[in-house]
Amino acid sequence: MKLWGGRFETGPSEVFERFGRSLDFDKILIDVDLRGSAAHARGLRKIGILSEGECRRLVEALEGLREEARDDAFFNNAAEEDVHTVVIRKLKELVGAELADKIHTGRSRNDQVSLDVRLWLRERIDEGRRLLTGLMEELLRLAGKYPRAIIPGYTHTRRAQPVLWPHYLLAYFEMFSRDCERLGEARKRVNVMPLGSGALAGSGFPVDREMIARELGFEAVTRNSMDASGDRDFMLDFEHAANLVMLHLSRLAEDWILYTGEEYGWMDLGDGVTSGSSMMPQKRNPDSLELIRGKAGRVFGNYLALLVTMKGLPMTYNRDMQEDKEPLFDVARQMLASLEMARAVVETASLKEEAARAAAEESWAVATDLADALARKGMPFHRAHKVVGRLVLESVREGKSAKDWSGESLAAFAPEFTADMAALLDPGEGLKTREIVGGTGPKAVAAALEEAQARLKQMKC
Ligand code: ARG
Repeated sequence: MKLWGGRFETGPSEVFERFGRSLDFDKILIDVDLRGSAAHARGLRKIGILSEGECRRLVEALEGLREEARDDAFFNNAAEEDVHTVVIRKLKELVGAELADKIHTGRSRNDQVSLDVRLWLRERIDEGRRLLTGLMEELLRLAGKYPRAIIPGYTHTRRAQPVLWPHYLLAYFEMFSRDCERLGEARKRVNVMPLGSGALAGSGFPVDREMIARELGFEAVTRNSMDASGDRDFMLDFEHAANLVMLHLSRLAEDWILYTGEEYGWMDLGDGVTSGSSMMPQKRNPDSLELIRGKAGRVFGNYLALLVTMKGLPMTYNRDMQEDKEPLFDVARQMLASLEMARAVVETASLKEEAARAAAEESWAVATDLADALARKGMPFHRAHKVVGRLVLESVREGKSAKDWSGESLAAFAPEFTADMAALLDPGEGLKTREIVGGTGPKAVAAALEEAQARLKQMKC
């Protein structure tokens, strides 16, 4: 069955039909398509295109189809080009052709498909935000489990300065909280109702668009029919937000792939999220995290695909735009799956506190604390930097680490070192000098953790 054809002398060729079919992937829209059609039917009822009885029969049939569509068998033997056409065929079987044919009055698949995707995407965004806040909650739990643990902070993949474990996790909390906001922003632009735009020029039937919008939970209606027919910004907005979710998940994954490996060795993951090797009996690989990192690449590609598809399209709808769907669905599916996986990984993650502290003590990660101390006593910072730099060089030459120095030996090395500065050779001491908002001082971090808990409560959707 087709929704067009009167003007053609022959039907489409088999190859074109096969080439243009979107049913295999747009069938995912079945439930929202049925809901959208029911709202449209009510709109037609209000302007007298459908009688009360006709509207009721259509809406009942659409409700029945929603039930039926829960079963995958719904699409068995469907030969139609897309999900919208399948619905019309099924409606005809249920209410007869005469009535079913009326449902498309004043509607085009162009505004219909935009409506469907917006409804579908809104649900995915809500699910994404739920998963995201769940992950953030788990990060805070993991932070609170080792509130005073010290780990090495890195720049250039080299040990840089000691930081508190919760401080490190809160960095990801901030990234994910921005992601949650971004998904919320995208939701606003998704949540606009396009029905009534027709193919491009606006529907010829004065359906009450506001009423349809209210019924379907939209906050507004689109303001220009040509824009509504040709616009895919709302998808790109979502994909951008989803890309950043994946980017952040991927960086977390990368961190933990490193930190749990033998070369770092100060974190661990549970058996439930790691896998073995078919050949090397000793292996315990962080495949869950590697897959998250891998999926990030795939999701970014999807985003670029839609950008490139849209960039040269003349106004308004062009069939190219059917290519928006598979990447979009994939972005949503991979993001949701990755968020779920990441949460499960965080649940099993543990910190090896001793090893983390030892890593923070080695490699002169306390050097900045010493230089700061000299500067606090009045030495210009660049000079302080140089003095401590020489101390590190001397230590490297003699094979000494920071804890091999004492107040006396420091003072012997350079008279500017006062006895109290030796305490800073312990990474826990230097942290205390960073009690600045946003810093890794123990009090600042405890306050930040509390603030994050409160913020998360507000954010929970
Ligand atoms: N499957 C099409 C899409 O996803 C539906 C719209 C068809 N519109 C058209 N003018 N051929 O874009």
